[in-house]
Amino acid sequence: MESLRVALGSRAYPIHIGAGILGEAALYAPHLAGTAAVVTNTVVGPLYLPGLRAALESTGARVVPIVIEEGEQAKRWQVLEQVFDALLAARLGRDSVIVALGGGVVGDLAGFAAAVYQRGIAFLQVPTTLLAQVDSSVGGKTAINHARGKNMIGAFHQPRAVIADVATLDTLPDRELRAGLAEVIKHGAALDAAFLAWLEANIEALLAREREALTHAVRRSCELKAAIVAEDERESGARALLNFGHTFGHAIEAASGYGAWLHGEAVAAGMVMAAELSVRTGSLAAVQSARLRKLIERAGLPVVPPRIDQARWLELMALDKKSARGRMRFVLLEGPGRAALKSEVDEALVREVLAASLAAAQ
Ligand SMILES: NC(=O)c1ccc[n+]([C@@H]2O[C@H](COP(=O)([O-])OP(=O)(O)OC[C@H]3O[C@@H](n4cnc5c(N)ncnc54)[C@H](O)[C@@H]3O)[C@@H](O)[C@H]2O)c1
Ligand SMILES: [Zn+2]
Repeated sequence: MESLRVALGSRAYPIHIGAGILGEAALYAPHLAGTAAVVTNTVVGPLYLPGLRAALESTGARVVPIVIEEGEQAKRWQVLEQVFDALLAARLGRDSVIVALGGGVVGDLAGFAAAVYQRGIAFLQVPTTLLAQVDSSVGGKTAINHARGKNMIGAFHQPRAVIADVATLDTLPDRELRAGLAEVIKHGAALDAAFLAWLEANIEALLAREREALTHAVRRSCELKAAIVAEDERESGARALLNFGHTFGHAIEAASGYGAWLHGEAVAAGMVMAAELSVRTGSLAAVQSARLRKLIERAGLPVVPPRIDQARWLELMALDKKSARGRMRFVLLEGPGRAALKSEVDEALVREVLAASLAAAQ
């Protein structure tokens, strides 16, 4: 097992990563006082709730399981209310802990429930998708969706600990594994050239779910994200770098209807487009853009966006929350592992990238 810390002063917390650690009672014990409410869903619960429950109960904690529906549509008010109903029915007090067992959907919803239940109680993240292990479980963003936008209702609420068991990825559908790899590649491409090179050498091992490789990839991703979160908890600066590929990616998700493309798939094609835009602005060598595209292709991820006409692209990207005062803001690359936020990107260059991608999509 490997452990690291997210340095947030009095709210600092550990991230434990390893194979088979879900059942390690000692990892939970320091954070449990009275009752532990485990929020999970109908897919993950049958697989991993018994093991987690046994570990929690062995510390003497009372366990209240709360099983919600599966899928992104679970991030809504009614489901949150079901969680509050269950917490109140079981009389959970302020000394209780919510444990999120599942992917990013369960983590975001359970984390938000913990942020507001009785003005905020402790929570633990037990992420079971690669995306949740490398991204959503770290950093304290919690939210549900609104009909008018994803993640529009939420709070910053840091977990007390993250326990990422890479053995749970054995049961993850292949497509979800690849989508998680997109965020791993993002961490290398945007923040760490050496990690990017490691990914190039180990992508097959990751696709084969070799545990040592997965442990390293999760660990390095968490380290990179944790360092940024420690510096910029509420996303006023450096944290924006984690959005590399996301301006194009969010537009792809919105244009194709949420769910048709997985988030990671949209980010994958979005990173290829952002790298291409970096080349056109002169900040990145073409050979580096080609290199990133190759890695994304080898991960079995899309490198070409769906057909979206230019006006729609521009409309969707202007709606993206990262574009301030009508100007086009993008996270671009200045080299392998070196992303930078550019606030005045020339729209003509953006149009060139869109035209090229439309031609490629044909
Ligand atoms: N809070 C953040 O900082 C942050 C960052 C990125 C993404 N997110 C959010 O995360 C969500 C996406 O998370 P996700 O990709 O983990 O999706 P998800 O939670 O929907 O999980 C994907 C699918 O895998 C299933 N699953 C989960 N673990 C499994 C396992 N071990 N074995 C088999 N099946 C398993 C789930 O039931 C689901 O069908 C989005 O709502 C997104 O907004 C949040
Ligand atoms: Zn993302």
